[in-house]
Amino acid sequence: MVHLNIPTKGRKGFYVSMKFLHSNNNRHGRQKDNNIKRYSSPQYIFYRCFKWFVWFFLSFYLFISFPSFKNNNHHYSPSPLSSSSYPSIKSRSLAESSESDVLGGLKVYVYEIPEKYNKVWLKNERCKKHLFASEVAIHRALLESDVRTFDPNEADFFFVPVYVSCNFSTINGFPAIGHARDLISSAVDLISTSFPFWNRSRGSDHIFVASHDFGACFHTMENVAIEDGIVEVLRKSIILQTFGVKYNHPCQQGESVVIPPYIPPQSVRSTLERWPLDGHRDIFAFFRGKMEVNPKNVSGRFYSKAVRTHIWRSYNNDRRFYLKRHRYSGYQSEIARSVFCLCPLGWAPWSPRLVESVALGCVPVIIADGIRLPFEDVIPWANISLTVAEHDIVNLGSILDHVARTNLSMIQRNLWDPSMRRALLFNDQIQKGDATWQVLRTLAHNKLRVLTQ
Ligand SMILES: *[C@@H]1O[C@H](CO)[C@@H](O)[C@H](O)[C@H]1NC(C)=O
Ligand SMILES: *[C@@H]1O[C@H](CO)[C@@H](O)[C@H](O)[C@H]1NC(C)=O
Ligand SMILES: *[C@@H]1O[C@H](CO)[C@@H](O)[C@H](O)[C@H]1NC(C)=O
Ligand SMILES: *[C@@H]1O[C@H](CO)[C@@H](O)[C@H](O)[C@H]1NC(C)=O
Ligand SMILES: *[C@@H]1O[C@H](CO)[C@@H](O)[C@H](O)[C@H]1NC(C)=O
Repeated sequence: MVHLNIPTKGRKGFYVSMKFLHSNNNRHGRQKDNNIKRYSSPQYIFYRCFKWFVWFFLSFYLFISFPSFKNNNHHYSPSPLSSSSYPSIKSRSLAESSESDVLGGLKVYVYEIPEKYNKVWLKNERCKKHLFASEVAIHRALLESDVRTFDPNEADFFFVPVYVSCNFSTINGFPAIGHARDLISSAVDLISTSFPFWNRSRGSDHIFVASHDFGACFHTMENVAIEDGIVEVLRKSIILQTFGVKYNHPCQQGESVVIPPYIPPQSVRSTLERWPLDGHRDIFAFFRGKMEVNPKNVSGRFYSKAVRTHIWRSYNNDRRFYLKRHRYSGYQSEIARSVFCLCPLGWAPWSPRLVESVALGCVPVIIADGIRLPFEDVIPWANISLTVAEHDIVNLGSILDHVARTNLSMIQRNLWDPSMRRALLFNDQIQKGDATWQVLRTLAHNKLRVLTQ
């Protein structure tokens, strides 16, 4: 039985939201006008200005004390996440004090909307465990977190909890997402008529999770996803999405945050108990998953751009490679027994293998041109993984051999730093440095960027 624990103080939030719903329903436009007047009153404006001042001050402090804020994604420099691998007393203490400040100032209001938008889907156990379950995990973690505020007036961000991935097809078990657009639009209708906050910012300080192949475009096939585009009402909002590329893409907008796909942390922990990171790894290069021998032409597109087919054709008979095409329940132990784990694109560039590999200490071999990886400002991806171009499959074997002879142990040492796997896993309750925490850190960072511009 699953239920989201609403802490006792949660009651307060419930009343706050009910008050808004109630007053609007009963008195129609009149009360809304009052609300809006209230939010444009001099006291309110003073309050907002004061808040901005505090933010500015905080941001200044952070800019001088938190080195990673000054870097763009491509240059790595020591940051809190890596401080354990590169210890230095000075940077450590700086990192620690700024870490608590980063989230200390942040306040997120979590909308309490009817269960049909979220909790009702939890009747199916799979809803909180499958690949797209970050929509549940982040909501759950926020409800219990210190950054949650029950007063929407003091919130920096508003989280809208809509679960769209749990309508599992009775035919193939995959999540059917045909209803996603309607469900989200209906949730936005509700909050924008019951609260003043959506209209105030046109949704730009509102957060949604879209953990699908192509984020808020809600379709598995890229051409259809692009045609449909991001759900209209979400165009200005902040989307937490697994999809990310380094170039302009219609399904990725300015304020999207790339998050890791969901892998249950318990499953990783229990695998690691039996197969420790530094244990014997008897598989050189591993891949298990959909790999068509003769890829189907689906309206002009081939699954994985046929990259997986090339891998299969080139290395199926190579003794260094352990390639399997069918599901197997011991899949995680295979990763834990492998040195290199191939992470080729599927329909979309991202893959759950990336998280599983890092979490289980197998060096991810990323084969997905242009992919944007989660939390690139704190995870030194170039030092914990390998990237092979899609057209370079012919050289994959020799690249891996070369690395095994030269810098493998260095990559493994970086990869096995516990902060790496912590950053990619979502816990029921936020832990410092975990995936939800990284999302909040990114939001705090974005907030500062907006305010200092
Ligand atoms: C769930 O998906 C099915 C199609 O697989 C659809 O017929 C049904 O309406 C969806 N349910 C909801 C609540 O949207
Ligand atoms: C927000 O704007 C919409 C569309 O203009 C309107 O229908 C709605 O009543 C507004 N909400 C509030 C709380 O005023
Ligand atoms: C794939 O199918 C499309 C039509 O759906 C066709 O135009 C295209 O030539 C096909 N491509 C290949 C490589 O067979
Ligand atoms: C390891 O070696 C490979 C191949 O020379 C290189 O591409 C990669 O950047 C190196 N990785 C690290 C972390 O030094
Ligand atoms: C990453 O690798 C580069 C090049 O080897 C090195 O200069 C840098 O210190 C490394 N950083 C981390 C965190 O591993």
